[in-house]
Amino acid sequence: MTGSRATSNRTSELARAGQGSKDSFARAGLVFPDGTSRVTIERDPEPVYIERGSGSYVFDIDGRRFLDLNCNFTTLIHGHAFAPVVEALTDQLRRGSCFANPTRGEIELAELLCDRIPRVDRVRFVNTGTEAVLFAVKAARAFTGRRKIAKLEGVCHGAYDWVEVSQAATPPDNWGDPASPKSAPFYRGMPQSVLDEVVVLRFNDVEGARRLLSLHARDLAAIVLDPMPSRGGLTPPNPEFIAAVQQTARENGVLVIADEVLNLRQGFEGAAARYGLVPDLITMGKIVGGGLPIGAIGGREDVMKVFDASTGRPLLPQGGTFSANPLSMTAGLASMRHLDHEAFAHLEVLGNFVRDGIGRAIEKKGVSLCVTGAASLFRIHPMAQAPIDYRDAFPTASGAAVMKELTRFFAAHGIILPYGAAAALSTPMTRADAEIIIEVFEGFLDRYQDHLEGIEVQK
Ligand SMILES: Cc1ncc(COP(=O)(O)O)c(C=O)c1O
Repeated sequence: MTGSRATSNRTSELARAGQGSKDSFARAGLVFPDGTSRVTIERDPEPVYIERGSGSYVFDIDGRRFLDLNCNFTTLIHGHAFAPVVEALTDQLRRGSCFANPTRGEIELAELLCDRIPRVDRVRFVNTGTEAVLFAVKAARAFTGRRKIAKLEGVCHGAYDWVEVSQAATPPDNWGDPASPKSAPFYRGMPQSVLDEVVVLRFNDVEGARRLLSLHARDLAAIVLDPMPSRGGLTPPNPEFIAAVQQTARENGVLVIADEVLNLRQGFEGAAARYGLVPDLITMGKIVGGGLPIGAIGGREDVMKVFDASTGRPLLPQGGTFSANPLSMTAGLASMRHLDHEAFAHLEVLGNFVRDGIGRAIEKKGVSLCVTGAASLFRIHPMAQAPIDYRDAFPTASGAAVMKELTRFFAAHGIILPYGAAAALSTPMTRADAEIIIEVFEGFLDRYQDHLEGIEVQK
């Protein structure tokens, strides 16, 4: 973004980390390879270090308050330090943090998920969404005896090699033919054998899904799909696409894995149910742990039997020192119990209010931006039309610069807005919080209207 450089610089200055964060980052640079422990940490140029969180707000170590629309990458659906979770955890901590034996908490959380989420007959707990996806893929292999998987281009499913193929940030020169996307490596040295075992589909490409799934059907254990991928644009799936994937998979004995690690927060029964997808396995994480690390694999009883060790070695042995640890079970249970129909209705109303407000502001100014999302999630894009897949959602250089400036502007006005990813609302947020989000967005449009005309369109 060019022009009005003085104003822009002032906004950037306000958005920057305070001295405490700068000092912490300098220290961190001596012990971490890049000063952080996660590639996803936003830095501009330093990250903002947090002292504490309460409800929908976080407070940084320099004493500034921010409305948190990141919610630890959509995890904290009840916001920070949610009292029922704090109380339950305090009680559990006094009784011990982990044992080599099971606890009743894991049964109760599993019961809640089996009762709530269609197609979840049985559950297994792990510690991250990555692990949940990893074990779901292995379960599909063990069940079908096949080795390949299909996945959607650009979509994130965590850090298991096979699902990292063609993951977000793969640049356009590596995408390949639109009709048959390339299996693009996510990191240098990714084995060719992994790339060969992944079939990449485009989200919402009905014909492509049918053709590619049929072509590789004999070797495919599963198709892994997020019903509304954040990196795919956070746009609802085309019902025909869902139907094509499901039908082709069923006809060919390919399992459907719905990755709901992020999108389970779209409703009481999750996102697959919301969009008419009937999966064989569902992977969960984030909100299910109430703010503590968690992952869960749920699914059809016959498929989940691959984990069954009751009569000897199972088809798929699955363990983990901290799997189903009582702290995650306790926090998850307290959080999920409070996530009732009323809580989801509140989030739905709030989400619609924010998306409508942002959409109206864009329309009024006639700028090349749009907003996508559903339920408690939204994403702003530097393009006039809502993207339908990852390629479409991939911003041009000028579009990316606008998004960077938007994130800065929000930070300068006390709101953490994730850059290029889904923004998340939480149950403690109020109509007043939602109004502030819209007002700050309107303020951004007022300030940058001229520059928003110059966003290039992706070819
Ligand atoms: C859809 C999806 N699947 C899997 C993961 C990986 O989860 P985790 O970061 O807990 O390993 C993520 C993380 O954001 C995700 O969004």
